[in-house]
Amino acid sequence: MSTGTSFPHDAAHLHVTGAARYVDDIPTPSGTLHLAFGLSTTARGKINAMDLARVRQAAGVVAVLTADDLPFANDVSPSNHDEPLLAKDTVHYTGQPLFLVIATSHLAARKGARLADISISPEVPILTIDAALAADSRFEDGPRIYTKGDPDTALASARHRLSGSLEIGGQEHFYLEGQAALVLPGENGDMLVQSSTQHPTEIQHKVAEAIGLPMHAVRVETRRMGGGFGGKESQGNALAVACAVGARLTQKPCKMRYDRDDDMIITGKRHDFRITYDAGFDDTGRLTALDFTHYVRCGWAMDLSLPVADRAMLHADNAYHLSDVRITSHRLKTNTQSATAFRGFGGPQGIVGIERVMDHIAAHLLLDPLDVRRANFYRDSDLGSPSLPTPEPELPGTNGDLTTRGARVEGSPAVTAPPVPEGAQTTPYMQPVTDCIINTLTDRLALMATYRNRRDAVTQWNAQNPILKRGLALTPVKFGISFTLTHLNQAGALVHVYQDGSIHLNHGGTEMGQGLFQKVAQIAASEFGVPLAQVKITATDTGKVPNTSATAASSGTDLNGMAVLNACKTIRERMSDYFATLHNCPTDEITFHDGHVTAGTTTLTFAQAAQKTYEARISLSATGFYKTPDIQWDRIKGLGRPFFYFAYGAAITEVVIDTLTGENRILRADILHDAGQSLNPALDVGQIEGGYVQGAGWLTTEELVWDEKGALKTHAPATYKIPACSDRPDIFNVALWDRPNPARTVYRSKAVGEPPFMLGISAWSALADAVRSCGPTYADLQTPATAEEVLRAVQKAQGDD
Ligand code: MTE
Ligand code: MOS
Repeated sequence: MSTGTSFPHDAAHLHVTGAARYVDDIPTPSGTLHLAFGLSTTARGKINAMDLARVRQAAGVVAVLTADDLPFANDVSPSNHDEPLLAKDTVHYTGQPLFLVIATSHLAARKGARLADISISPEVPILTIDAALAADSRFEDGPRIYTKGDPDTALASARHRLSGSLEIGGQEHFYLEGQAALVLPGENGDMLVQSSTQHPTEIQHKVAEAIGLPMHAVRVETRRMGGGFGGKESQGNALAVACAVGARLTQKPCKMRYDRDDDMIITGKRHDFRITYDAGFDDTGRLTALDFTHYVRCGWAMDLSLPVADRAMLHADNAYHLSDVRITSHRLKTNTQSATAFRGFGGPQGIVGIERVMDHIAAHLLLDPLDVRRANFYRDSDLGSPSLPTPEPELPGTNGDLTTRGARVEGSPAVTAPPVPEGAQTTPYMQPVTDCIINTLTDRLALMATYRNRRDAVTQWNAQNPILKRGLALTPVKFGISFTLTHLNQAGALVHVYQDGSIHLNHGGTEMGQGLFQKVAQIAASEFGVPLAQVKITATDTGKVPNTSATAASSGTDLNGMAVLNACKTIRERMSDYFATLHNCPTDEITFHDGHVTAGTTTLTFAQAAQKTYEARISLSATGFYKTPDIQWDRIKGLGRPFFYFAYGAAITEVVIDTLTGENRILRADILHDAGQSLNPALDVGQIEGGYVQGAGWLTTEELVWDEKGALKTHAPATYKIPACSDRPDIFNVALWDRPNPARTVYRSKAVGEPPFMLGISAWSALADAVRSCGPTYADLQTPATAEEVLRAVQKAQGDD
C-alpha cells in the first residue's frame, strides 16, 4: 500500500538542488517581451492626466497601455467586477496599477514605468477601521449577524461579565516565488498561459474575458508554485491578463513577474480585524453568553472578502460550545490593498477572538487558562472503539465517471437547521458537532508534554526571576473543512494507463509545496497496486481537467484525491472485467498488488496486463469526478451544514520574555494534530510544522505598517520580519493523532493544509501568560505581539500604564 507511507515530497530533490522549474525558469522563445505596471503613489483621488511620453521613449520600451487601450474587459476581480486591471478615472490605493509597460527586458520595463508624469487630485483616503466606520464605507448594506439562543438575556443574567477589544494584524504571504506569468500567443488568437496560481481555471476565465474569446481559446498550465498560502487564489489574475493583452497586441510571448517590493505593495494580504467581545460566564469560567463584533478591513475591492469574513464568523466558537451567542461582522472598504485569502481564510482571526476571551476570563477568575478552556469544550463525540477498522472508503455522493453514470441534478430545498443526533452539541450556525475529539486530544497532549508539571515549574521560575518571565499556553483548534461556497466542493481527474504499464496522472489541484501531488500519486499507486515510481505526476492543465476550483480551503487532497480514486477505479474495473472473462473467474477476485494483476491462477505484471487490455481494445484512460456530499447552508442566515467535517489539533507553547525590552523567544512547542488516517505522515508533519511557525509569525513579529497617506512602509524583508529558521522553537515535538476520519474521505484522511496554522495562536497566548505574571493589572496583549507590544503590555500589567 502506497498510502500511509512517508514518501518525501515528489520534487524535494528538485527544490533543494534548484532544479525545480518555476514560471521564471521556463526557457522563453527569443523576442519574449517583459511587462511592468506603473503604480499609483496616491491612495485615493481622481486621475486628471497621465503623461506617458517619457515612458514611451525610454530605452527598450515597446508599448505602453492605459485603461483606454484595453480591447475588452478591464477587470481582474474574482468576484464582483470591481477590480480594473488598470485604473480608470479614479485611484483607490497606493500601489494600484495605472498603466502597463511592455519592453524588451524586465529591467527596461521597470525603469520605464518610473518615468510617468501622473496628475491625481487627491482625496482624503479611508485607511483605518475607524475611518471606514465613520464614513460607513462597506461592502454590504449593513453588518452580517449570526445569532444562536438569546445572548442579550443571557448576558444580562450572567454571574460574571467582561468585555474587551482586540486588534488583529494582517499578514503578507511572503511566498518565496513571487507572482509570475508567461503567455505564448498561438494561432487564431489562442493563448497558452503559464501561471504561478492556485486557480488555473480563474486565470483562464479572466484571460478569456480580457481578450474577448471563449474559455476554450485559453489553456493555463501550472506545474508548481514556490508557495501560495492563499495569495495566489486571485492575485495572479492581473499578471496573466496583462501578459495576454500584451501578447495579443504584439503577437510576442509576454512575461511578467513582480519584484518583491512591487509584490508587497500591489497584492492583497490577510485581512486585519478588530474584534470586540462582551462575555458572560460562571465561576468555573464556563461561558453562558457571548457577543462578538468583527470589524474586517477588506481594502479597496471585494475580492474574496465576504467568504473570508463569513469563515471568521464560522470560527468564532473554535472548539467551544456556546449556548447563547451573537456574531456581528462589518465588512469595511478602505483605500488599501484588497485583502485576500491567506491560510485559514478568516478562520484564524475568528479563533484568536475566542482564545482571547478564554485568557481574559482565566485572568479575571485567577484560573489556569487550560481549565477555562476545558470547561468550555464541545463534548467529545462517541466515535466507537479506537481500533476502528479502516476499510477502503465507500464513495457516497460521488458521480464517478461523468460519461458513464451521469451527473445527478439536485434541487435546492430551503436550508433549515440540520437534525441534531442524540448527544451532539451544535455550533452557533446549528451544525451538529459529531466528530469531536478535542477533550481526549488535549488531555493526551497535556500528558505527553507534561503541562501541569511545567505550569508549576513556570510559576516557580517566574517567582525567582525578576527580569525574564516565562509563559505557557495550550490552545486548541477546530477547523471546518469544505469551501463555504458549496458548489466549489467538486473536482475532476484524468488518468491514462499506457501500454507499458506506466500511469499518467492529472487532476485539478495545484502544487504549492504542500505535497498534494505526492499524496494523490500515492492514491493512484495504491489503487493499481504499483510502485509509486510508475505514476507520473503532471502539471495542472485546464485543457486536461476543466472547471476546477482553486486549490484552497485545505480541500486539495479530499477533492482531487477522491476524483483520482474514481478515475483509477473506472480503469481498474474495465481491466478486471476483461480478465475475469478471459480467465473465467469472478471479477471481485481479480487483485492488483505489488506491481501485478492476479486473475484466478494467472499472475501478470501490471505492464503485461495493460498491454493485454490495450490489445483487447479496451480504453485505458478515464476521467474521475467527485463532489463532497451532505453539505448545504445559508450564508445570510448563518444556518446549516457548511462543513463536511472538522479537523482538530492542539499546541502547547512555552515562551520567555524580557520585561525590560519586550524581546521574546519561543522555547518549546508540543503539538498533537488530527490528520485523520494520514496519507503521508512526513508531508503532514511538514504542514503542521510550517503552519505553526507561520501562525506564530503572524501573531508575533510580522507587522504591516502603512503611513498616514496610505503607503505601505513594510514592503521588503528588511522591514517585514517573517520567522527565520532560528525562530523555530528549539524543542519542537509534533505528533499525529492518526485516527481515521469518521467522515468518508479518501482513505479516511483529513485535510491538513490550513488547520495547523492556528496552532501558532498558542505562542501568542503564552506571551499573554508571561505578561500576566508581571503584575496585577490585566494587560490586553494585542497582535502582532511585537517586542514593542509585549513591552507595552508588561508595563500595563505592572500598573505603569
Ligand atoms: N504549504 C506550502 N508548503 N505552501 C503553501 O503555499 N498553502 C496553504 C496550505 N499549505 C501552502 C501550504 C493553504 S492556504 C492551503 S488552502 C492549502 O495548503 C492548500 O493545499 P491543500 O488543499 O492541498 O492542503
Ligand atoms: Mo488557502 S487561504 O484556502 O489558499
